[in-house]
Amino acid sequence: MITNEEFLRISSYVKQRYGIDLSQKKVIVNGRLENHLKSGGWKNYNHFMDDVEKDKSGSLEKMLVDLLTTNHTYFMREFEHFDYFKKEVLPWIKKKESGRKDVRVWCGAASTGEEPYMIAMVLADFFGLEKNQWDMKLLATDLSTGVLQQAMAGVYNADQLTKMPESWKRHFFKAINNGSQYKVTDELKQQVIFRKFNLMDPFPFKRKMHTIFMRNVMIYFDEPTKRVLVQKIYDALEPGGYLFIGTTETLDRGSTPFKIIQPSIFRKEG
Ligand SMILES: C[S@@+](CC[C@H](N)C(=O)[O-])C[C@H]1O[C@@H](n2cnc3c(N)ncnc32)[C@H](O)[C@@H]1O
Repeated sequence: MITNEEFLRISSYVKQRYGIDLSQKKVIVNGRLENHLKSGGWKNYNHFMDDVEKDKSGSLEKMLVDLLTTNHTYFMREFEHFDYFKKEVLPWIKKKESGRKDVRVWCGAASTGEEPYMIAMVLADFFGLEKNQWDMKLLATDLSTGVLQQAMAGVYNADQLTKMPESWKRHFFKAINNGSQYKVTDELKQQVIFRKFNLMDPFPFKRKMHTIFMRNVMIYFDEPTKRVLVQKIYDALEPGGYLFIGTTETLDRGSTPFKIIQPSIFRKEG
């Protein structure tokens, strides 16, 4: 079992680098790391952390991140957001950018790809035949490279697609392995740019976003970390741009610079 001192070392390391607040999750941290420590031959957590900090290749760091992030996600999650995106946000973008014809959307905690592929399908539905006239930039990022690899592979078990409309399944997926799995079509995959990105880092975007999806990730951060991130998101949006957060998450009404449209949908003034 992890000692208090070892736990403090790991939780401080993770908090400082990734913003993730594990301070109340000692049992979870131990449960997720214990077997890997044993199979990797580390005698205790301190030896493991010494190696993580020394490792120039980044592979131990990657392992730590992959083990300690919670990547739960699924297709159609909080579908009301995609509905709102199609009915309210995309018509606004289409009008605003009718000259330049570009759309910039960022999914900041993309996990295994379900959310960005949902966004890509809604974009394809909305723009229809006009799609080729538009320059669409859909950026999908996550801290964990393990989940991003899965997202880029775009292979899902059939039961993960059960709630998806048949027309989407037909258009955007190909059945493989006798129908036990589905693979995202190359065309849809090409709509999404997957990159590793830590939300604690300064945002590197040259152009401002029309919409940012930041759903179900800020629950892992403490309030001060969240406040800084929300301000960075605000600054990265176009005037009038939208932010979606998870429906069970909240932004402090008093301190947020955003206009509240619905409890999980926010808009920058402009
Ligand atoms: C629970 S998943 C949410 C997935 C999706 N947005 C959804 O709502 O279904 C949270 C994701 O946030 C990522 N994450 C956690 N901390 C992060 C950070 N500092 N920077 C970028 N991504 C982070 C995790 O790797 C994980 O994939």
